[in-house]
Amino acid sequence: MSGKLAVVTGGSSGLGLATAAGLAGAGAEVVIAGRDAERLRLAAERIRERHPAAAPVRGERLDLASQASVADFAARLTGRGRPLDLLVNNAAVLYTQRRTLTEDGFELIMATNHLGHFALTGRLVPLLLRAPAPRVATVCSLTAKVPVLDLSDLMNERNYRPLSAYVKSKTALLLFALELQRRATRALTSVAVNPGNASTGLYRHGPAPVRGLNRGLDRVLGRDTENAASVILYGATSPDVVPGGYYTASGLLGRRGTPRPAPLPRVARDHALARDLWLKSEALTGVRPSFPARSLHV
Ligand SMILES: NC(=O)c1ccc[n+]([C@@H]2O[C@H](COP(=O)([O-])OP(=O)(O)OC[C@H]3O[C@@H](n4cnc5c(N)ncnc54)[C@H](OP(=O)(O)O)[C@@H]3O)[C@@H](O)[C@H]2O)c1
Repeated sequence: MSGKLAVVTGGSSGLGLATAAGLAGAGAEVVIAGRDAERLRLAAERIRERHPAAAPVRGERLDLASQASVADFAARLTGRGRPLDLLVNNAAVLYTQRRTLTEDGFELIMATNHLGHFALTGRLVPLLLRAPAPRVATVCSLTAKVPVLDLSDLMNERNYRPLSAYVKSKTALLLFALELQRRATRALTSVAVNPGNASTGLYRHGPAPVRGLNRGLDRVLGRDTENAASVILYGATSPDVVPGGYYTASGLLGRRGTPRPAPLPRVARDHALARDLWLKSEALTGVRPSFPARSLHV
């Protein structure tokens, strides 16, 4: 990764921090993006302590739940003009007790996990296309196995259930990662990864049964954050990945072991659904990612 520039969203904690540290250790210059300046500063410091000889690591403010913040972040990066080799769409929010609306009027979980990353990726496409072999790695979840994604209720207006909102957002991200590859064709590589289980901050606001289940799974599966992040790092850096591929851990339920290509959940094979979600995401965010004419998918 020497000489390459990578952006990791949610890079100040959990799997994002472990991914950013792995990339820095492999020689990449890393921008960790998150909401809190102090958490970003501490995370960058931790990475520098661990990899003192690494290329620069710095934190940049980004609130994916705010389209204005996404635009501002992308404008700052674009203003510096450095080609972007790798974007890791990792940040996520799992749970909010009540349905919450963002300043843009979007439901918070869908806004952060899917629409924020959709707009961020779209706004960074010009920088990505200036790199010799650009890649976008999008962090999904085992939960993307749910059979349907109801586009008529993307914002969870009917019968809000927080965990369903998370599942829906992760399904949307998987469809996005695959549709991005179809649209970009050879202009970039887009992969989706499911890191499997790890006891991170993701569960801290979740209900007690979910926190308990997760801790139990970690104990049974013997999984740690670095181990789970290795699946993200594989998708983000391995020369063996296939454009439009989906990678997960190889063991039980895709929750442990070395990374391997995984079969796509049924919903992710629905190209019409992916196209409709893309168009809806464009309409909601006002961001219309464009690719060189020769690479356009019809
Ligand atoms: N842990 C697991 O078992 C597991 C399993 C499957 C998939 N995943 C996926 O792995 C990824 C990383 O999760 P994690 O487990 O490492 O959880 P985590 O420690 O809670 O990390 C989530 C990150 O997202 C950031 N974030 C949340 N809201 C944001 C916003 N509005 N704007 C920008 N950043 C925001 C947080 O940063 P700030 O709060 O500092 O802004 C935090 O760094 C997620 O995509 C998750 O869905 C995790």
